[in-house]
Formats: sequence, C-alpha cells, structure tokens
Amino acid sequence: MSAESRAGARGQPVFYIAMVSTIAAIGGTLFGYDTGVISGAILFIQREFALDAAMQGLVVSAVTAGALVGALAAGSTAQRLGRRVTNVGAGALFVLSALLCGLAPGQETLLLGRFLVGLAVGATSVAAPMYIAEVAPPHMRGRLVSFFQLAITVGILVAYLIDAALAGTGSWRWMLALAMVPGVLLAAGMLPMPESPRWLLQNGRDPEARRVLGLLREGDVEREIGEIREEIAREGAGSWRDLLASRARPALGVGIGLAVFQQITGINAVIYYAPQIFESAGLSSDTVALAATTGIGVVNVGATFIAIGLVDRAGRRPLLLAGVSGMVLSLAVLGVAFRDGGRSGSGLLELLTVVCLALYIVCFAFSLGPIVWTMIAEIFPLRIRSQAVAVSTAANWAANFAVSLSFPMLRDGIGSAPTFFLYAALGVLTLLFILWRVPETKGRSLEEIERLWHAR
Ligand code: BGC
Repeated sequence: MSAESRAGARGQPVFYIAMVSTIAAIGGTLFGYDTGVISGAILFIQREFALDAAMQGLVVSAVTAGALVGALAAGSTAQRLGRRVTNVGAGALFVLSALLCGLAPGQETLLLGRFLVGLAVGATSVAAPMYIAEVAPPHMRGRLVSFFQLAITVGILVAYLIDAALAGTGSWRWMLALAMVPGVLLAAGMLPMPESPRWLLQNGRDPEARRVLGLLREGDVEREIGEIREEIAREGAGSWRDLLASRARPALGVGIGLAVFQQITGINAVIYYAPQIFESAGLSSDTVALAATTGIGVVNVGATFIAIGLVDRAGRRPLLLAGVSGMVLSLAVLGVAFRDGGRSGSGLLELLTVVCLALYIVCFAFSLGPIVWTMIAEIFPLRIRSQAVAVSTAANWAANFAVSLSFPMLRDGIGSAPTFFLYAALGVLTLLFILWRVPETKGRSLEEIERLWHAR
C-alpha cells in the first residue's frame, strides 16, 4: 500500500466518525435553541394571547419539565429500540412540535407544543451523547462528545440572534417554528447512520456490529468486539430495577452528582437572565445589555473549543478542577462587586460584571459544560447505561428547573450578592466532589471504565 493510500485509509474512519458525531450533535443545537429562544418570544406571545403570569411561567418552563420526562422515556427507547432510532425519533418530534408551536391557535396548543419540544430536548440529551460515546474510539471520545456541548452553545447563540433579528416584527411564531430546520436535519441525517455497535452486540446482531465497527475503526476490530462481548456475557442486560443495586451506586452517584452540580453552580441563572444581571449592574440601555448578552453567547461557543482541544490530552479531572475553580473565583468577585461596587458609582460594577460573567462562562464552557455530558455518557456499564444516563440526565433537568425558577426569587429576596456567594459556595462543594469521587476516564475504553468501578 502506498503511503498516500495508507494515509487515506487512516483518515477515512476519522472523517466518518466526525461526520456521524456531528449529525448526532445536531440535537444539541435544538436543545440550545429551544431553551434560549423563548426569552425573546415570550413578550410577544404574552401580548397576543394575553397570558397571565402563571401561564407565562408555564409556557417558559414547559420545555424543562418536558425534558425531564423525555430523558426518562429515552432511557427505555434507547435500550429497546436502539440509540439511532431514539435520535431519529427526537428529530421527528422536534419538527412536529416546532410546527405546533408556530401554528398554535391558542395558549393551550402552544403549551402542549412547548411540552413536546421538551420531550424531544430530553430525548436528545440522553441519546446523542450516549450514541457518540459508543461509536467513538477511546482516544477521541471526549472531543467528539464535546461536539454536543458545542452544538448547544451554537443553538443558544443562534436563538439570541434570531430573537434580536425578529424582535422588530414581533413574529414569535417564526422564532419558535424555525427549530424545524435543524429538526429535519437531525431526523433525516440520523436515518442512514449506523446503529451503535455496542447496542448491536447487546442485541445479538454480531455481523452488523462487525460491519459498523469496520467503518468506524482502523485495522482489526476483533479485539474490541471480544471485549464488548465479554462484558455482555459477564453482565447481561439490565433493567431499571438494577439501578438500585449496591454495585451500581458508585457510578450512579457520580453521574447524578455531576449532572446536578453542573446546574446548581448557576449556569442558567447567567444564560437565561444575563440581560437582567447586566441591567442591575448599571448597563442601563437595552441595546448595551443585549450586546453584552450576545457577547456571552459568543464567548460560550468559543471557549468550548478549549475543551475540544484538551479533554483527551489533559484529561477530564484537570479541566473540571481548573474550570470550576475559575467559576468559583468569578462568582465570588461578582458577589463582592455587587455588595460594594454599586456604592462607588464609578462604573467599576459594570466593568467587573462584564469581566466576571465572561470569565465564568469561559470556565464553564471548558469544564462542566462539555465534560458532564461526556462523563455521563461514558461512566456507566453497558448493562444499565441507557437507564443510568436517563436518570442522571433527568436529574440535570430537575436541577435546571429549580435554579431557573429560584434565581429571580433569590435575587429579589436575599439580594444579588448573596445569591452569587451561594453559587460560589456550591462551586466549592463541586470541587470537593470532583476531587473525591470523579475518576479519570481519559483514553480508556468504555469496557475499561467499567472494570475501573469493579477495581474500586
Ligand atoms: C447545560 C445547559 C446550559 C448550557 C450552556 C449545558 O451543558 O446542560 O443547562 O444552558 O450548557 O452552554
């Protein structure tokens, strides 16, 4: 074989895996878009349907509630019907629900549409990272699953931009309906993709698994097939009840812990309420606050590339520890600035708010953002992976709901400074949790990670 064709043969699986992972990650764009777009749309929806405060809250939070249910449901479908089918189904549901929201004749239909959007968001947040983790070779798994987080951040940014572009016309229907486009791409793109080789082997479809792995790997795939088979023979197929078994607990504790800490350190207080935070710091004009918010969106996308570049080299733990330390620091400074800075009237509070929020987002974007999704997808044994990923993801959505609901109440009740101090303190807890409980998974195969728990 010539050097050129050898390079071609080596390059090909990498290109193919990157393509497969990118298509699955489109679900992340929808996740980001659908959670972000409502902030700009709700004002116009409220005018058209004369929503009362309770209905407004429901329309906004229906996606989060739906996502919790969708995540649990996807735990069953991913195991029974497969990872690929679950991703296709999520795409189809995105299309349907976006149409329903865009055409909603009244508030009840809109609420139903938003709940269905949530089901799809929940399903994709289980099925996409798990699918990518199962097709990826160990040395690039972190990078590839981080595509999912990158897609989330792109979705959030696009939502900010579309909201801004359509704000003049007030066309909230288009804001919501545009999610159809990536929805179609996800459903149609995933249809011809291969099923996860691990799911195929678990379901006795060995020849197909061998063919798929042949497409995804360079050289001999028999060793990997042997390892996966061995695990299946040893462990069999699990059920929801197996999550309660004592030997499932350490991994489940880490999965749920990471999922919850990702939220209770305040990320969505910033993502959902950034304009208000900027305004309360004194960036008074709407345009400036909005520009600063778009800046946050851009920084969020950009800093995710740090994780993509480093997660398989530096490892998960160093990035998590560095990122969360930076988040704690920026939250603490923000707290002090809000406590003291407002009095000076020198513009210091404005400056510190912009700098601290940007630093906070950078640190989240290379640590808790991508790595939590990566680790949830890789730490569980195949036997209970679907269910355990589903439960951890549902915990993430429950915590997301609690934080976004409580932030305005905390801010108005105890004040901005104590609220930021509270998130900083929870960040310190997160650091301790990572130090004591979270294993390093860099470069290990999923089967090696499973053995790691036994060894522990
Ligand atoms: C989190 C979301 C958050 C987003 C921000 C994701 O990893 O799960 O809740 O809005 O990152 O980039």
